[in-house]
Amino acid sequence: MHITNDIRYIGVNDHETDLFEGQYIVPNGMAYNSYLILDEKTAVMDTVDRNFRDEWLEKLESALEGGTPDYLVVQHMEPDHSANITAFMEKYPDAVVAASAKAFDMMKNFFGTDYADRRIIVKENDTLELGKHTLTFVTAPMVHWPEVIVTYDAADKVLFSADGFGKFGALDAEEDWACEARRYYFGIVGKYGAQVQALLRKAAKLDIQKICPLHGPVLTEDLGYYIGLYDTWSSYGVESEGVVIAYASVYGNTKAAAELLAEKLSEKGCEKVVLTDLARSDMAEAVEDAFRYGKLVLASTTYNGDVFPFMREFINHLTERNFCNRTVAFIENGSWAPTAARVMNKMLENSKNLTFAETTVQLRSSLSDESRMQIEALAEELCR
Ligand code: FEO
Repeated sequence: MHITNDIRYIGVNDHETDLFEGQYIVPNGMAYNSYLILDEKTAVMDTVDRNFRDEWLEKLESALEGGTPDYLVVQHMEPDHSANITAFMEKYPDAVVAASAKAFDMMKNFFGTDYADRRIIVKENDTLELGKHTLTFVTAPMVHWPEVIVTYDAADKVLFSADGFGKFGALDAEEDWACEARRYYFGIVGKYGAQVQALLRKAAKLDIQKICPLHGPVLTEDLGYYIGLYDTWSSYGVESEGVVIAYASVYGNTKAAAELLAEKLSEKGCEKVVLTDLARSDMAEAVEDAFRYGKLVLASTTYNGDVFPFMREFINHLTERNFCNRTVAFIENGSWAPTAARVMNKMLENSKNLTFAETTVQLRSSLSDESRMQIEALAEELCR
């Protein structure tokens, strides 16, 4: 596949993995992207996951059209991209690796060698001349690991963006970009909003016409849309107006309260209500929704003097990703000593700029006239 006259796509689609990075379901698979830049000197941009070594090496060989690669640029050392560095270096003994100093430290740890005699250590704004193409390296620490660099090719106005602008889903699957890019972003990079903001500021100074990420499609049109979403996500802004009701229920009574609230919100004309059963839906999807919308209702039964385990896990996912800037409300249930609302509130105590609803709904086992009134009041408050 030609990305430009000189840039070839040599990535692979993975429909085998059960869990990407050991935790994310990927119903439409995953793409590990890799690129080849053909010029007087040729450069390969990253490798792919270990299970696709032979397919990738064959694609590379075919795209080289009889040539040999001069450089392997390693932008990111996570194994979904770095696993085949050794196979590449063995196959092409004259090739040189270009990467950050931290990446070479990681190579030593992963592979037992840092290629001391076959490497170029690159720093911020260092360049690599290929001929017509000059690659400029831009450091992007913690997007998504500390060693990450992204690479700009001024000749074709291409930004190789590493994990940035990536998404779940193989490239042969038809699906909406934003849904799986958002789930990917908040799952994997969500904690590092400040670092993504720093990278966006550097990228704003470049004339970019194509973005070549390490996952997901090459972005070629309407780049302002994608960059705008990344700006909203990384600044923890509200992307869409709406209320997410995330519940953890044992016998269905807390669920009934969550559903009643959803119904009341819809009756009052709340534009968008998302109801999520934390025990049965994809946790990463629930996390994505919590960061997408402006209001979040947490509904949990009390359990061992705490909250139900799925709720604890959910809130942990939110707080470790800097959940902030939103309105939060609680529904608690407890048959003899309800404590869920207090525990959930405590778990969010270090989260910045949260507005807590005045109404907390309390169920003592099941919905009552009193708790129904509280739900009515909460719906009123959230729709205001
Ligand atoms: Fe796609 Fe952070 O690796």
